[in-house]
Amino acid sequence: MKKIYIASDHAGYKLKEFIKKKLIKKINLVDLGTDNSSISVNYPFFAHKLCRKVEKNDKNYGILICGSGLGMSMAANRHKKIRAALCYTTKNTKLSRLHNNSNVITLGSRLTKKNSALKLIDVFFKTKFEGGRHNKRVKKI
Ligand code: RB5
Repeated sequence: MKKIYIASDHAGYKLKEFIKKKLIKKINLVDLGTDNSSISVNYPFFAHKLCRKVEKNDKNYGILICGSGLGMSMAANRHKKIRAALCYTTKNTKLSRLHNNSNVITLGSRLTKKNSALKLIDVFFKTKFEGGRHNKRVKKI
């Protein structure tokens, strides 16, 4: 069964909670932590934790949040089956799905406003991979 996981470090915690609250009626999110913003944690721990879950099923997706979105995407993309996209505009979010079949969206809580983050997540899940010529390119990653 398809699952959508979400995780953050301390810097992304508040945005993670906001997203969970806003999306609770629309999608079933499995929260993998962190559990507060006051204890400083290491973002790779949460990136790897989430990616190990996402890569178990082709239909799984993930949302990772840190301060910039950069560290989470770097760590996530170490996983063979993960195509993590650092999303900051609706256009680059859409392209990450259309052309790259991204399965993890990473967000920077210090650079992206709360409502923009919601919009990016909406675009991410509404956009389907185009396949075709992009298939062979994605396989070469
Ligand atoms: C934490 O201060 C910050 O470095 C982290 O959230 C992230 O932005 C790393 O890429």
